Amino acid sequence: MSTRESTRRWLRNAITASAIIAGLWPAGGATAEPLSGVVQDAKGPLPGAMITVQGGDPIHAVTVFSDEQGGFVVPSLPATDSHLRVRRIGWKDLRLEALAAGSGPLELTLERETDPQALAEQLPAHRWFELLTREIEDDKQREQFVRQCTYCHQQGNRATRVPREDWQWDKILSLMARMGAVLPADLRARVPELFRRAYDLDTAVPALLQGRAGDELVAAPSPEVRTAVIEEWELGVRSSMQHDLVFHPDGRAYSVDMTQDQLYRLDPETGVSESFPLPAQGLPLGGVFGGRDQPLPPTANSRQGPHSLQVGPDGAVWVTLALGNQLGRFDPVAGTWTTYPLEEGYYPHTLRFDGQGRIWFTIAGSNHVGRFDPETSRFETLRLPARTWTQAIVLRFLPALMWLAERGDGARMESGDPDFMPVPYGIDVAPDGAIWFSQLNQHRIGRIDPESLDVELLDTPFPAPRRLRFDSSHGLWIPSFSSGKLSRFDVRTREFREWTLPTATEGVETPYALHVDRRTDQVWVCGTNSDTLMRFDPATERFTVFPLPTRVTYTREIDFDEQGRVWTSNSNLPTWQVEGGFPRVLRLDPSPAKAEVAGGSGR
Ligand code: HEC
Repeated sequence: MSTRESTRRWLRNAITASAIIAGLWPAGGATAEPLSGVVQDAKGPLPGAMITVQGGDPIHAVTVFSDEQGGFVVPSLPATDSHLRVRRIGWKDLRLEALAAGSGPLELTLERETDPQALAEQLPAHRWFELLTREIEDDKQREQFVRQCTYCHQQGNRATRVPREDWQWDKILSLMARMGAVLPADLRARVPELFRRAYDLDTAVPALLQGRAGDELVAAPSPEVRTAVIEEWELGVRSSMQHDLVFHPDGRAYSVDMTQDQLYRLDPETGVSESFPLPAQGLPLGGVFGGRDQPLPPTANSRQGPHSLQVGPDGAVWVTLALGNQLGRFDPVAGTWTTYPLEEGYYPHTLRFDGQGRIWFTIAGSNHVGRFDPETSRFETLRLPARTWTQAIVLRFLPALMWLAERGDGARMESGDPDFMPVPYGIDVAPDGAIWFSQLNQHRIGRIDPESLDVELLDTPFPAPRRLRFDSSHGLWIPSFSSGKLSRFDVRTREFREWTLPTATEGVETPYALHVDRRTDQVWVCGTNSDTLMRFDPATERFTVFPLPTRVTYTREIDFDEQGRVWTSNSNLPTWQVEGGFPRVLRLDPSPAKAEVAGGSGR
């Protein structure tokens, strides 16, 4: 059978299939009419291409993958001004403007990209970043560099590769240091040269291509991946940063804009989003950290700095206000805020609810963990042990140091010891009720007894444990941010197991967070530096890598809805580095057909 014949046959099937899908998919905010077609190149059908249809204001984008025969069906189209983009690494992007619903079936032919530089530019940030980290011989410094320079934005993306003079680097590094990215002085001094050498196109492009053709540069998405549907919604403004996101049992996604002090609510069925500003409460820019040298990006407008959020047992949305130094409670029915200032400590970070409705949260700036009981409005604050004597002293005198800094008397910190502050980070509640947390810079995790509040600390065999989560039994899953590893710690046997992320074998990956769907115990990991989400199946120990459609998709948190769909937000800071220049939240449906069948099964 010729390609053309099989294509035609496929199209017939696709149209039938699309009719079925049209009935299955709710039409919310989009036309119910699907769009179908086939992707090919000069050699025939092209599987694994990403077909993205986007339109509307704010933009809603739907992405599907072409199957083995090159066929695709986009289940629903954004309502207005839709256009289409087909993308696969190794081929030139194809764009169609002004797409009408019901148009199609489409026959889309991609052209190979043969220009070496253009090919290299298609590669995600992690592939480029490897060229830079290779230049740092010292293991400790390399780890520090990765940890310090990738926690706001990707490294290796286009914006970070621009050639710059020493004086330009000096300005950039001063700004980064003011916002908290400190490097040891000798490493900092090497930065301009490291970047210039690594990203010199004359050497970088051949190193990335290694004589390979475009289609050999990246493995085609596997058949499991090709059934996925990825939706993205723009939320906020160009200077926004969508830090974390949570999916509410009411069917809507909530996300916090850390730099513009907003809470957003998105209804994926209607596509309608609303925003709820946080009250400024007379706080200066930068909140309690405000003053002459605000630790803020230049376009930030934040006094409260909403950072992490969870839904309480009563349906209220609770938020850590990192800069305002309080907890916020948002009533989703009344649309109102109530805030609770911390009694001790600085920078409330990540929060989780325990089985009794109490909030546990890390307090990153001052090495505390807090507990808050919404019933009584009472805080309990625990000072975590310091690693060293000097660390303990500094942490004790933190309020005085901040008072000085606020008045501009503190010396500007241009370089320093990146491991000095412990930084309590991720936190989760074990199925047995114990509280576990990580200390990012200390390469440690810890356990808190929820009643006696006794603390136990354990060193991790890997650096930078970030946002950890429990599975349904006694497995604590931990991403190692600066070594690109996934680890499982068994809280009973006290053993660690480690797996290298598939994207880390090709470059430098920085998994910021992970989450375990406790219904299936599948582990989802943020491919923060590679524009991917990864699924790990503990039973088979296999990873599935889902490429994401938008270049520079920096993810920091994962949540699931009732159908097991995966939600996250693109929170690269600054947002201008993101393709399209706007922040987005996204939903990945790994197996749409199954999700329909399994819908409503509850846990
Ligand atoms: C606390 C967040 C944060 C960290 C950590 C961080 N950056 Fe940045 N970076 C930013 C922001 C925000 C911008 C955009 C600044 C602007 O728009 O003026 C930026 C921009 C950049 C740019 C592009 C500059 C330009 O004007 O085009 C480079 C290069 C860069 N960062 C390198 C680094 C390096 C190297 C490190 C580690 C020392 C680092 N960043 C750590 C927040 C951060």
